[in-house]
Amino acid sequence: MRFIATSLALWATLTAAAPSSEITEKAKKYEAEYTGKCGDKNHGKIALRIGNGGAGQSGLVGALADAFIDHKVPDCHDTGNLFKVAWVKGDTTETINNLKNKDIDIGITYHEVAEQNAITGGIAKGCQYKNDSLAPCFNDCDGAVEKPCRTFRDHFYLVGPKSNPAEIDSEEDDIVNTFRKIYETGERGETKFLSRFDKSATNIIDSKMWIDIGQVPWAKSPAKWYYKFSKYPLEALTKAIKKKYYTITDRGTYLTLKSQNEKLTNRTVIYQTGEKHEKLLNPADIITLNDDAESAKMIKEFVEWVHSPEGQNVIWNYTAKDSKPKYCLYKGFDDNSVPPNRDCEWELNGSVPGSLPGDEREREDL
Ligand SMILES: *[C@@H]1O[C@H](CO)[C@@H](O)[C@H](O)[C@H]1NC(C)=O
Ligand SMILES: *[C@@H]1O[C@H](CO)[C@@H](O)[C@H](O)[C@H]1NC(C)=O
Ligand SMILES: *[C@@H]1O[C@H](CO)[C@@H](O)[C@H](O)[C@H]1NC(C)=O
Ligand SMILES: *[C@@H]1O[C@H](CO)[C@@H](O)[C@H](O)[C@H]1NC(C)=O
Repeated sequence: MRFIATSLALWATLTAAAPSSEITEKAKKYEAEYTGKCGDKNHGKIALRIGNGGAGQSGLVGALADAFIDHKVPDCHDTGNLFKVAWVKGDTTETINNLKNKDIDIGITYHEVAEQNAITGGIAKGCQYKNDSLAPCFNDCDGAVEKPCRTFRDHFYLVGPKSNPAEIDSEEDDIVNTFRKIYETGERGETKFLSRFDKSATNIIDSKMWIDIGQVPWAKSPAKWYYKFSKYPLEALTKAIKKKYYTITDRGTYLTLKSQNEKLTNRTVIYQTGEKHEKLLNPADIITLNDDAESAKMIKEFVEWVHSPEGQNVIWNYTAKDSKPKYCLYKGFDDNSVPPNRDCEWELNGSVPGSLPGDEREREDL
């Protein structure tokens, strides 16, 4: 169950006659509050604040929060123990700052180096890892090292027009070659690339790709083929498809657009994927408040639960809203832990090159 901040904000406006700065403050701070299956009956206080961007928007943070509350308090009559979980919206940089300022308890972030720096600098805590194990160690961790807690993985896709002016060969080209081809055809005026140019995780990934081939297309004087479009992910993907540009998008955005307008997503092709290329994979890690505060016990329980089969199942099973067939959005931290009864599909049939109807002419009227 979720109470969206806008409704809180509206309520704050409606009750503005009474000085209720606390409510206004809350509405600003929390994007949503989750109550588990007990819903309206859950009058508990917020016992955990989770900071994140994309997985909050996709609903995964809410699904984890609800399942964790239900796990901790299976009986709604157990009112004394009921609690809520809040989502504090923020990208990786904002989330690390929120941890530093003790405004959140858990950060789910996407930049391992920044996370490790936060741990080393004492701003945040990670998990204990022994040897090269993918799973964190929670007991008898002698000799373990502290690292960000690998939690789930988000996938990015390089998409582009069916006409494929850069002649990307999904089978033969590695990711470096792919971007070199876009660059070379771009320089010849045959191709354009849309960048979100907004410091988002997506933008950081595309920037890394250009750096990898020794290019800085946004530096002065900016490359003509490098199109800056700092809007929301759905708008950016829509624009790229309509303009026949290449771009990088994430799986969640692609699936959302597909569920809203399949005719449009049918006009684009996924040329490279995070499934095949590590560089297009965005691992999401948990780092936590470094404090012996009241919430310390709850934080520890949440982290252990998220890495347990029960928590990982929520991740593996999480589907894109309204999608038909039901597509899974994420993978857990370990490929060997796929739950056998997963109720969603991974393969994006019809969108990968090869399974597309030949050289279909795209309509220009959209
Ligand atoms: C870590 O690796 C060493 C050497 O390969 C091995 O002896 C030890 O048992 C490993 N420890 C764990 C906890 O897996
Ligand atoms: C999109 O393409 C798939 C596979 O070719 C097809 O089955 C589906 O009907 C198309 N959807 C629309 C809305 O055109
Ligand atoms: C995942 O989906 C399957 C199939 O619907 C279901 O049996 C299972 O309980 C789900 N697991 C979780 C953790 O939601
Ligand atoms: C998509 O493709 C996979 C692998 O070829 C297949 O197992 C699955 O049933 C297909 N799903 C749909 C909805 O066509």
